[in-house]
Amino acid sequence: MRIRRSIRGASVSMSRFDPRLISEPLEQRRREGTLRQRTIISSRRGSRITVDGREYVNFSSNDYLGLATSPILMAAWREGAEFWGAGSGASPLVTGMTAAHEELEQFICGFLGMEAALLFSSGFAANQAAVKTFVPRGGVIHADRLAHASLAEAAMLSGARLFRFRHNDPVSLRRSLELHGPGLIITEGVFSMDGDESPLGAILSLADEFHAPVLLDDAHGFGVLGDGGRGSVSAQGLAHSSFDLVVGTFGKAFGTGGAFVAGERAVISCLVNFAREYVYSTHMPPCCAHATLAAMKYASRNESLRERLRENIAFFRERMAGSPLEILPSRVSIQPVMAGSSARALAMSSLLRERGILAGAIRPPTVPQGTARIRLSVTAAHTREDLELLASALDEAGRLS
Ligand SMILES: Cc1ncc(COP(=O)(O)O)c(C=O)c1O
Repeated sequence: MRIRRSIRGASVSMSRFDPRLISEPLEQRRREGTLRQRTIISSRRGSRITVDGREYVNFSSNDYLGLATSPILMAAWREGAEFWGAGSGASPLVTGMTAAHEELEQFICGFLGMEAALLFSSGFAANQAAVKTFVPRGGVIHADRLAHASLAEAAMLSGARLFRFRHNDPVSLRRSLELHGPGLIITEGVFSMDGDESPLGAILSLADEFHAPVLLDDAHGFGVLGDGGRGSVSAQGLAHSSFDLVVGTFGKAFGTGGAFVAGERAVISCLVNFAREYVYSTHMPPCCAHATLAAMKYASRNESLRERLRENIAFFRERMAGSPLEILPSRVSIQPVMAGSSARALAMSSLLRERGILAGAIRPPTVPQGTARIRLSVTAAHTREDLELLASALDEAGRLS
């Protein structure tokens, strides 16, 4: 709550909040170089984005296949809106659930070979629901140390005891299971800030041995990896049905927004009944469900999209092979260029911006202290010229101290 009062003509903020909640944390972030600010985009198409009247090549989008502004998806969204209207108008348990949502859920089940799937308005909400519904208070969660903030947040709110195993380390997970007993194992297929992949086979073996359910969030693997873009599970030669909960998002490779949780029929029925994020929230707009179905069908049938993406990633990595910059190993779009300090990451990001490239500086607390980075996202929409421009700008950025 903020009141604006005029004292002798000057507007003065009269916040009733304790300054320890407002001005002090903001000031601390400013001092540490980690203050967040939003970038307002005035137009975008493919890999191009306009900010403050200047056009940039966008290397900071999760639109991995370049579908978000593709004519096919935009037409599908329009078609959905013409038939269903702009919004769902209610929660799914009231009158918000349409045939468009049902059709998308059915497609996901067939695509992944899962019994049932449920749509959410965001991956954040899907992860809240998937974690909190299935872990009792005082229960146990074993989460990869780098699991996404939405998973970590849900784990903390669940009231369960949260144990974090070393990133992508089955030995550390085994130790956690031995010490603290079975409980929900949480991992991602592709990690959002590092672009590396989870050893899913080893995790499933431990899950069987300790009889512990597994939640896999494959937000960054779906659409990009595996047969038809079925994601990390398919890329590692496994079956989705081996996992107890599979979460996927639509706002990345599929170019729309929202998410799903897939699992056994009874598991999904539990979410329908008990997940407050589902029951007490307006359902995803049906035109979004309609466009997402079009996106999934299109992306799964057009291997050329993934082929183009793979070629772009290979070209970029080869071009940067001799660079003094540390680029973490990754075969997906996420190509993290390590900066170390937040200040260096910001300096690199602003140099790239001067050269016409938009690429975000990712700083603590999103990543651990001392590992600030430029999180580049190479997509299928980039051209060779875009990648060449990026590589030359990075050559310069590498000389920044
Ligand atoms: C691994 C992972 N899971 C979930 C989410 C949240 O998804 P959404 O953006 O749809 O809320 C993200 C990031 O956005 C993510 O990187």
